[in-house]
Order: sequence, then structure tokens, then C-alpha cells
Amino acid sequence: MAIYNIQVNGERRQVDADPDTPMLWVLRDTLDLKGTKFGCGIAQCGACTVHLDGKAVRSCSLPVSSVANASITTIEGLSENGDHPVQQAWMEWDVPQCGYCQVGQIMTASALLAQNPKPTETDIDQNMSGNICRCGTYPRIKKAILSAAEKGGSNE
Ligand code: FES
Ligand code: FES
Repeated sequence: MAIYNIQVNGERRQVDADPDTPMLWVLRDTLDLKGTKFGCGIAQCGACTVHLDGKAVRSCSLPVSSVANASITTIEGLSENGDHPVQQAWMEWDVPQCGYCQVGQIMTASALLAQNPKPTETDIDQNMSGNICRCGTYPRIKKAILSAAEKGGSNE
């Protein structure tokens, strides 16, 4: 075990963990940030996506020891009141079905728009392809991202 000082949602947090503990478990079990979901555990589904210095990463495959000097944002820190433009577009298009994958989808989509505020449909397909939705909400996800982009939805 070792002590790690990590920046999560703008706050410095101290955690005691084995170096190879995935950030997903640090977030959920140690810091009680349960918005980020476990899906496959092997970086194949996107359910666990968070932002690491603004980039979408799979927290299930991110050892706590690798994030000491980085800033992590989870869905809880994406906006103060759930009103990030991507979250608003998600509500406008009524995107979720069962909901399980949706936090990961939103975190990937918001990182995309932060880096590329006017993505083409191809950009969206390429960037979102690692986020699996068993309910098949892909068409609504794409509409919501295009809608958020239209309204200038990249603020994080
Ligand atoms: S749980 Fe991390 S990618 Fe599936
Ligand atoms: S909404 Fe059910 S898995 Fe995506």
C-alpha cells in the first residue's frame, strides 16, 4: 500500500491503495463516487470512462499509481448541476434506455467536444466506437452530440 495524492473533480484527495489498484475502484469504493460504472474491466466497453487531463480514459485499466500528477474528472464533476451542454442534449433527446452505459457515453462525448467542438458524423462514430450500448441507443447518442455541438457545447 502507498499514499497517493490525486486531483479528482477539482479537489485534492488522499488515498491509501496498492499501486496497481484501478482508478475505477478508487473512485467508487474509496471516494464514494459511484457514477462511474464497471462493465468489462478490460478496457473494452467504455462504461468506466472518466477524463484524465481532459482526455477520455478507461478507469478500469488505469492504475492509481499512474495518475499522481494528473487531474481526473468524473460525471459528478462534469458540471455543478447536471447541466453541461452534453447532459442537456442527452435530456433533450431522451437518450438513455437502461442507462448503464450512459455515464461513459457522456464522458466520452464531452471530451470529444472539448477537443473538437464541431465534429463530423464520422468524427463522432470514430470517437464513440469504444463505448458499447447493449440497448442500441447509438442513433440518439449521435443526435445529442450533434445538437450539443450546434449549441457550442464544449464547456468543461
Ligand atoms: S469497465 Fe472499463 S472499459 Fe469496460
Ligand atoms: S442504455 Fe442500456 S446499455 Fe446503453
